[in-house]
Amino acid sequence: MKLIAGVSAAVLALLVLMQFVPYGKNHENPPVAGEPAWDTPRTRELFFAACKDCHSNETTWPWYASIAPVSWLVYHDVEEGRSEFNVSRWGQGKQEADEAAKMVRKGKMPPRYYLPAHPEARLGDTDERDLIRGLVATFGEEEDDD
Ligand code: HEC
Repeated sequence: MKLIAGVSAAVLALLVLMQFVPYGKNHENPPVAGEPAWDTPRTRELFFAACKDCHSNETTWPWYASIAPVSWLVYHDVEEGRSEFNVSRWGQGKQEADEAAKMVRKGKMPPRYYLPAHPEARLGDTDERDLIRGLVATFGEEEDDD
């Protein structure tokens, strides 16, 4: 019993200490510098439902994104997602946009772990088909044979 109490106290102390780590606390969204010429408003709507938290500067930061260690994971995802493909920085620098349709088709995006807390990003078959078609029409598609 004493051991359990000791371990619980240590875990609690660690969780409290984690909150003082400065990483991941900045939830300011940079301004939108440009957007792609979406093929239809529908494509944009589906993208904003399923992808924008990590691939735009219009991220909705949930409350748990302020609590370490979840905050570190969320922040890392947004940073990495934006660095590869950011629709709010369209026309600035290299983007992996021509991979977008493939990522959805293969079920890699949106990431599975993101879905339980974001039911709006769970696309039904029709929505998914529309999004894939819209991503190809807007961004084109990279040739590859895998
Ligand atoms: C929870 C955050 C998150 C969401 C939501 C999300 N992504 Fe990503 N995405 C990432 C991260 C992190 C990476 C970089 C790591 C990787 O490739 O897995 C990435 C990488 C990508 C890439 C670059 C592919 C490559 O070559 O690695 C594309 C394209 C992409 N995502 C498209 C999408 C699309 C389209 C959606 C919506 C259907 C989406 N993502 C939703 C986090 C996210």
